[in-house]
This record gives sequence, structure tokens and C-alpha cells, in this order.
Amino acid sequence: MTTPPRDSLTLTRIRHDEDKEPRYRPLDMGLILRLFAYTRPYSRLRNWLTLSVILRSIQLPLLAWSMGAIINGAISRNSIRGTLWGCIGFAALALFTQITFFFRIRMGQLIGEWVIHDIRLQLFKHLLTMPLGFFNRTKLGRIISRMTSDVEAVRAGVQDVFFVGCVQGGQALVSTLLMLWIDAHLFLVVMIMAPVVWSLNHIFRKRLSEATRAVQESFSRITATLAESVTGIRVTQGFARQSVNADLFHTLVMDHSRYNLDMARASGVYLPLLELSSQAVTAGLMVAGGYLAFRTSEPVAVGALIQFFFLSGVFFAALQSLGALYNQALMSMAGAERVFRLLDQEPEWKDSPAARDLPDMRGRVECRGLTFGYKPGQVVLNNINLIAEPGQTIAIVGHTGSGKTSIINLIAKFYLPVQGEILIDDVSILDIKGDCLHRHMAIIQQQNFLFTGTVMDNIRVGHPAATDEEVKEAARRLDCLDILEALPQGLQSSVGEHGSGLSLGQRQLVCFVRALIADPRILILDEATSSVDTMTEVRIQKALSQLLKGRTCFVIAHRLSTVRHASQVLVLDQGIVVERGTHAELLMKRGHYSNLYRQFARLGLGGRPSSKLPPPAAKSRPD
Ligand SMILES: Nc1ncnc2c1ncn2[C@@H]1O[C@H](COP(=O)(O)OP(=O)(O)OP(=O)(O)O)[C@@H](O)[C@H]1O
Ligand SMILES: [Mg+2]
Repeated sequence: MTTPPRDSLTLTRIRHDEDKEPRYRPLDMGLILRLFAYTRPYSRLRNWLTLSVILRSIQLPLLAWSMGAIINGAISRNSIRGTLWGCIGFAALALFTQITFFFRIRMGQLIGEWVIHDIRLQLFKHLLTMPLGFFNRTKLGRIISRMTSDVEAVRAGVQDVFFVGCVQGGQALVSTLLMLWIDAHLFLVVMIMAPVVWSLNHIFRKRLSEATRAVQESFSRITATLAESVTGIRVTQGFARQSVNADLFHTLVMDHSRYNLDMARASGVYLPLLELSSQAVTAGLMVAGGYLAFRTSEPVAVGALIQFFFLSGVFFAALQSLGALYNQALMSMAGAERVFRLLDQEPEWKDSPAARDLPDMRGRVECRGLTFGYKPGQVVLNNINLIAEPGQTIAIVGHTGSGKTSIINLIAKFYLPVQGEILIDDVSILDIKGDCLHRHMAIIQQQNFLFTGTVMDNIRVGHPAATDEEVKEAARRLDCLDILEALPQGLQSSVGEHGSGLSLGQRQLVCFVRALIADPRILILDEATSSVDTMTEVRIQKALSQLLKGRTCFVIAHRLSTVRHASQVLVLDQGIVVERGTHAELLMKRGHYSNLYRQFARLGLGGRPSSKLPPPAAKSRPD
């Protein structure tokens, strides 16, 4: 016997992010233009921002230049008046520069915020149009990181990288022109140093950013593990796994500390090296400048040298900042690419343009030769045929995994069959708008979902315009108003996260009322009463038999009492209908169904057993 590895459990297993996504992506003009298109609705703001970017590009080099000009001019001429005017002019320019800076930042943040707001909204709307198959294939974490970290990377791209990059690029350009104008020889020194500084900067920043990423990743593993441990605390305590989980957590925390130390070490090495590279540039310029100032033919004026130093300061500061921005830009590109890839992902199917409403749906449902699998090559349903006339109740029974819920998923158009078709009122469901279909259909699922909010809010999901009185009336008709009103704050009680504040049975009752207040033509109950107690179920059954009248109903029932009154019972086995007929007919047939019934009758459960049949001894011929 082999012992499974200790970390094979999902719970607090150390996950070293099985599927990492690339962090960087080269600059891509197509992506940049596409992002830029999102600023179109805010073109006025964008134009003002562009103006402020141009102003900022000129202002700083101009300030540096004017400092040199004052020293070189008025100060070296000993003119107090000239110096005073020079200083006033410098102060005015400095003030104007900072005011422009204020507006540049403000407008940059605003436009970034709007762009991100629009992208997030578009992504969310797009996600809601995706069929269930997409959510089956795509991990929740992936979807969340599209909406969070990737969108944030795009925000950084717009707010910090693009416009700041333009300002820095502009400053580097203007200071280059001014330096060239002052002295072309000295500028040559700058040109030699520039690529070295750029490369060092780029390499160091990249290393630092890799170290930061390792820290962030190890931290997110800690938070994910913590969340999982808390969610699964019952299992942890129930199986006395506290010490195993604590050991795993300890390993994660140790990892995180190690990555933090690595980052501190990297910062300790690279940040001083970065400063050193700037100082090396200054030293190089001083040597070259000193030589040029002292040479006998055409010596450079000391004032010009000072101007040059200030301007080269602006140039190299811009260059260093561009180096850091470049890294961020590559990350933003990767984020934008993933966001747009998701936005461009077409749902495998959507309503055809010819799809129409069926305003007066009667509720006749016909399945013709349905074959279906969730994945290519997998067969979950095989040649399913059924007809439900308006008002009929069809019961589906079969052992676990036989495909009962899958049939419902197809009828509700959550998935499309691989073969065969479904007709509602003799119209293919491909030609009926999904919205219309779901307006006429209510489903109470095996795993019901309640949104955070009150009981009342959750019931209103089925019919948002319903008044409080209508909600109460619906609960009264289902004979469960007293149960819901007995909650601490009655119908205004909060259901908690995912309905955790209610018992499973109470949640099912809320879902019942929610489904019935929608007044559907087609009602689907997938083990809808599995969690309510026997007494409540009897009460609901009575009320339901009234409410089901006139509606087409599909029932997958845990307990055979509902099945007994069905117009037709389908017995499923491994995706194949192995028996069909009414309860009485099937009992007479002495096949799977009667077998099941007899077994439970013998156990004294008389018609209240689970409908999940034991696997049949011999496989019957499909009908
Ligand atoms: N989302 C899915 N992706 C892949 N396979 C799935 C998915 N959902 C169900 N299956 C597979 O399809 C088969 C039928 O599942 P289905 O949920 O229809 O069974 P069921 O009869 O409703 O079972 P139960 O009584 O336990 O609810 C199962 O073998 C299951 O493993
Ligand atoms: Mg099921």
C-alpha cells in the first residue's frame, strides 16, 4: 500500500502557482492604441492633459537652464538688479511648473480612473454573457486576477507609465537640445554615458522587481492558505489536522521571510549601485568639463559648464525614471493583453440574430435525440428523447452521476447539446432569446445560491418589482410564511455570505418562494426539497401540487412521493433512459424503478427514499 504524499490534500497544500502567467510583454503599438481608444469619450480631459504634458516637458529643463543663465549672466556681472529680476522670473517659472504639475497629476489620475472604470465594467458585462462552459473551464482565480491585478496593471500603465513617460521623454529631449546648443563636445560625453546608465538601471530595476514579485507571490500563498484553512476549519478540526496544517503554514511563512530577506539583500546591493552609476556620470562630466574649461583654444565658459551640469542632471534623472517606467510598461502590456484577450473571447455560442421572444409561452418541452458531454469525447447523455406537454410533470430519477442535472442544464440552455435539439412550443431553443426563456423558467437547484442581503432581497431576485405583500403572499401560498417569519428579523433577516446565516432547509424555502414569485411557465426542481424536514416537505408538497397546476414541471426528487404523481417518470442510467412510464406502470414493469421502490418499502421508508437508484445488476436496453 502506498502512502499518499503529505501535501496531496487540497486543504492547505502548498501550491507553488501551478500555472504562472507571463509577467512581461514587449511594447505593442496595437495594444497601446487600443487602450488609448478608451480615452476617446474623455477627449477634452485628454487634450488638456496632453497640453500639461508638453508644458511639463519644457518646464524642468527650462528651470535648469535659467539657473545657469542667472549665474552665468547677472551674478557673474555682479548686477544686483539683474539677479533680483532673474530670481523673480525663476520663482514665477517654478510656481507655474508646480501648478502645471498639480493639474498634470490630477488629470492623469482622473483619466486613468475613467478608463479603468470603463474597462472593468465592460469586462464584467462580458463575463456575464459567457455560457456556463466557460466558467467550468476557467479557474475562479484566473477570472479574479483579470478583474484585479491585470486591470490594476493597466491602470498603472495609463496613470503612471504613459503620461509620466511622455513627460520624462519630453524632458530628456528638451534638455538634450539645450545641452547640444550649449556645447556639442560635452554632450558627446553624455551620449557615451547614457546607454550605460540606461542598461544598468534597466537590469537592476528588473532584478528588484523580480524579488518584489517573489515576495508578493509568497504572501498571496499565505493569504490563500489562510482563507482556505478558515473556510475548511470544520474539516481541519473534524479530522484533527491542526498540527499538519500548522506545519504547512509554517513552511509558507518561512518561505515568505526568505523572499523578504532576498529582496532586502537585492535592494541593499542594487540601490547603492544605481546611485553610484549617477555619481560616475557626474565624475565623468567633471573630468571632461574641467578639461574643456581649461584648454587653451575655445575654452568652455564656467557658466555654460554649470548650465550643462544642471541640464545633464535633468537628462539623467529622466533617463533613470524612464528605465523604471519601462519595466512597468512591460507589465502593463502583459496585463492589457490578458484583459483584451478575455474581452475578445467570444462565447462559444450566443443567441442567433434571428432569435425571438415567445411572449405567450405555453410550456411544451420536447427533447429530440439529445447527446451531450461537458468535455469533448465525454458522453454524459446519450440520445435522450422526451415530451412534456404544458402542465405535465416529468420526474427524472437515476443514481448519482447518471445525468439528471445535465438534462436540466440543457433544457435551461446553460449548455448546448452536442447532438439533437430541444423545442419549446415547437420552436428550437436556439431560436428563442435566452432572456425570454429564463423569464419563463424558474429553477431550484441542487446547490442553491443566495446573494448577501436579506431574505426579502433574495426572493425579489425572481421578480424585482414584487411588493412586500406579494412576497408574503407567495410564501403563504407555499405554506412556509410562518417558517420564514420565525427567523430573527423575519423576512428582513440577513442571509449572510452565500446564505450561511440560514439552515440548508431555510435556504431551500427561500429559493422556492423566489422561483414561484417569478410565476414561471416551466418549473425545474432539482432535488429541491432534499434539505427540508419531513413535516415541512409534506406541507410544501401539498402547496406545490396546487402551484404546479398549469405549469410544465421537471422534478428530480430525492423522495419518491413527488415522483408518484408525475405524468411520466424517466429512469436514467449512465446518461441513457432505461425506463419510462408513470409510477404505476413502472411498478408493474418490475424493472429498476420497482426494484428501488420495493427496496425502500422493505426498509420501511415507504415512498420516502432517495431517488438515487443503486446501480442496476444487469444493464437494460436503452429505449
Ligand atoms: N461541470 C462538469 N464538468 C464535467 N463533467 C461534469 C460536470 N458536471 C457533471 N459532470 C459529469 O457528468 C455526469 C452527470 O452529472 P450530473 O450532474 O448530471 O449527475 P446527476 O444525475 O445530477 O447526479 P446527482 O444525483 O449526484 O446530482 C457525471 O459523471 C459528472 O461527473
Ligand atoms: Mg444532480
